[in-house]
Amino acid sequence: MATQPIVKRTACVVGGSGFVASLLVKLLLQKGYAVNITVRDPENPKKISHLLALQPLGEIKIFGADLTDEGSFDAPIAGCDLVFHVATPVNFASENPENDMIKPAIQGVLNVLKACVKAKTVKRVVLTSSAAAVSINTLNGTGLVVDEGNWTDVDFLTTEKPPTWGYPVSKTLAEKEAWKFAEENKIDLITVIPALMMGSSLTPDIPSSIRLGTSLITGNEFLINGLKGMQMLSGSISTTHVEDVCRAHIYLAEKESASGRYICCAVNTSVPELAKFLNKRYPQYNVPTDFGDFPSKPKLTVSSEKLVKEGFSFKYGIEDIYDQTVDYLKANGLLKN
Ligand SMILES: NC(=O)c1ccc[n+]([C@@H]2O[C@H](COP(=O)([O-])OP(=O)(O)OC[C@H]3O[C@@H](n4cnc5c(N)ncnc54)[C@H](OP(=O)(O)O)[C@@H]3O)[C@@H](O)[C@H]2O)c1
Repeated sequence: MATQPIVKRTACVVGGSGFVASLLVKLLLQKGYAVNITVRDPENPKKISHLLALQPLGEIKIFGADLTDEGSFDAPIAGCDLVFHVATPVNFASENPENDMIKPAIQGVLNVLKACVKAKTVKRVVLTSSAAAVSINTLNGTGLVVDEGNWTDVDFLTTEKPPTWGYPVSKTLAEKEAWKFAEENKIDLITVIPALMMGSSLTPDIPSSIRLGTSLITGNEFLINGLKGMQMLSGSISTTHVEDVCRAHIYLAEKESASGRYICCAVNTSVPELAKFLNKRYPQYNVPTDFGDFPSKPKLTVSSEKLVKEGFSFKYGIEDIYDQTVDYLKANGLLKN
């Protein structure tokens, strides 16, 4: 009897050099996918050495592509079954967020999705959005719960322009554009909405989200102020392990019944609550615990109920998230024992 040939599934990861995407590539290879990876600069060893190191796990192909270059995603997406659009322009210090983040993020979504339409083989697209696209609002109080029905208030951000406003605007408008294009072009789209990610990274540099999330431990005053600013703007310090976020991307890509937006957040807390936890768990780092009249409770929680109801289970809670991140920082010389 003739046996069916085993057809290897191919996934494209857009922006494969980054913190999240490089781990996603690794997990996809471990699951038996062939992976087409796009990076902006395939000639730069610093951008691809950690990806080339994954070659023993399976088949990878690296392509040069830029979010702002229409057509540059056609070759990497051609023939793919799944597309993970993870890349986003990040420049928190930008003086022109409109040009540096908002326009290229929207253009990127359109260019990637147009390439998916052209390919005719893509069964599902998974876009990495952000909790910054759901949680920013002008409501007062505590105990609010935000879920996939919520969208960040772009009018408030573009009128008031609080620090770092360009990033949440870019993520919100890019995700909205993706939903519009997907509906008009009958693309099966899922968006994953992660909170601040920690854990360890394959990238040569320590990711900025890990530096921010561990600032109370490393004592970086500038970033501690950034963390406080995050709580004031977003309503909470919400975090999750990068591996859980990558697992959720693959889980949702493969789960036929999945549809729509999915928040992926394991922990909701505040700066003072987090500081108390860290001070007790790692007494050697003298984490400060006195924050004066800074709000001790988060204004809101970001709910992952939909993801959990879909059958996904988180592997990491707050203890594991921080234990692994601290180990990673020690291994990279940013923390002493
Ligand atoms: N890290 C977090 O805590 C967090 C939380 C929520 C959501 N997210 C989302 O998760 C995704 C990945 O974040 P990350 O932390 O892994 O970020 P990252 O390490 O900074 O990676 C961003 C990636 O985007 C690529 N990129 C930027 N501008 C581009 C352009 N014009 N054309 C093509 N590629 C471009 C970068 O490519 P190059 O290597 O060429 O620069 C890089 O690979 C993003 O969508 C982000 O919004 C992250």
